[in-house]
Amino acid sequence: MSPAADPLAFQKCLHPACGATFSVDEVLTACPKCGNLLDLDYEWSRLPVPSNLREFEAAWSNRRDPLDYSGVWRFRRLLPFARDEQIVTIGEGQTILQPSIHVGHYVGMNAGCLSLQYEGLNPSGSFKDNGMTAASTHARMVGAKMAACASTGNTSASLAIYASTTRLFRVVVFIGSGKIAFGKLSQALDYEARTVQVEGDFDDALQRVQEVARERGIYLCNSVNPFRLEGQKTIMYRILEAMNWDVPDWIVVPGGNLGNSSAFGKAFAELKALGLISRIPRLAVINASGANTLYQLYEQQGLRWNGGQIDHAKIDVFFRKMDVDGQRADTLASAIEINRPVNLHKCLRALETCDGVVREVTDQEILDAKAQVGAGGFGCEPASAASVAGARKLRAEGVIAPSDRVVCILTGHQLKDPDATVAYHSSDRELFEKKLGTRGVKTAEFANRPVSVPNDLDAILKALDD
Ligand code: F0G
Repeated sequence: MSPAADPLAFQKCLHPACGATFSVDEVLTACPKCGNLLDLDYEWSRLPVPSNLREFEAAWSNRRDPLDYSGVWRFRRLLPFARDEQIVTIGEGQTILQPSIHVGHYVGMNAGCLSLQYEGLNPSGSFKDNGMTAASTHARMVGAKMAACASTGNTSASLAIYASTTRLFRVVVFIGSGKIAFGKLSQALDYEARTVQVEGDFDDALQRVQEVARERGIYLCNSVNPFRLEGQKTIMYRILEAMNWDVPDWIVVPGGNLGNSSAFGKAFAELKALGLISRIPRLAVINASGANTLYQLYEQQGLRWNGGQIDHAKIDVFFRKMDVDGQRADTLASAIEINRPVNLHKCLRALETCDGVVREVTDQEILDAKAQVGAGGFGCEPASAASVAGARKLRAEGVIAPSDRVVCILTGHQLKDPDATVAYHSSDRELFEKKLGTRGVKTAEFANRPVSVPNDLDAILKALDD
């Protein structure tokens, strides 16, 4: 492995005691010296960093330039690893920060204090496009012809859309069999990705795709790819932009493989170090209780980043016990049905940067919160609603104050998983039991039940009057 050739942008081992650097031209998913995850890092002092975040507003008047149009690349001076002509974009990141009085009320906030960041409005319907545009750019930089990922559904949909629209590379996606919502599976199939259903769950699929990528020299697009996380930083820039460059008090995000939370922490650490923000918001990462590795390790066992001195023995014991007990992730929020988050270390660093907290929420809490998000706005898939359910829990505990300014990240579009939504609202008890009851959901407090009527005008009018 060669040391960083390009002195302005380079890959760097996240472990402070190692700190090895590598060129951006290398395809790496772990430090070849010590095996830890890699970050992108920059020689900021020699780069044209804006002196004020308002400088990004100049891009708004230049929307015919695809790079200024993109909600990721209009911030490219904060992820400067590619030359403009290398960048792959399909217009990602046109997402909005929507204040929601309705959802705010549900969470227990004062009016106007809760906003929802709708990342489901991305081209493939989830936040993943923020990262995939960056990974696709790097894949083009290194001339990759084949790319792969394991996925609970959204990463695969995102990778597949970038491949089908740009035709730069072919794609193979690995998914756990029976573990993916149909909206997401239909995307991978429609976008012509080679789709491999591994008998097992996401944790199995991720392990296999890493082996296959190594074996065959395939470009890997899971969030162990440090370039992907650079793109995901921009979700935070857009929130600041929407808040007139003000910093919220809380960012609340669902946690699965922990790529997003890691990217958010990096974004804020960099902005602070560059003097572009004066303070860092607090970060709340929300696990589903059926996939709560981070919650258990961070909140119950006190695992911390600790300046890079992580207690590895604690993590080893935890995963060994998980294996011995044959414990598998199990939640209706299939996007975050993950027990072995690959970005655990990076997320611990982010939690330290952002004075973070972690909570777990049940599937019942997730589905109730999802119904409230739908009733109050654009809607989201189950995993995304974990952020709202988590904010509600933190508000009830008094950790979040009613006057705090809170942003919940809605990571995926409502139409990704219509089965869960229909089962929740349905008056068909059998359907409810089959889809939700078997997973521990007992009630549908916010169900909006469809009404069945005979094909008869009087009966229809009567039903409306009722
Ligand atoms: N929300 C949604 C809708 C997701 O698809 C994911 C992850 C997450 C939250 C969790 O984000 O991994 O950054 O903590 N989905 C991955 C996938 C694992 O394969 O699509 P994270």
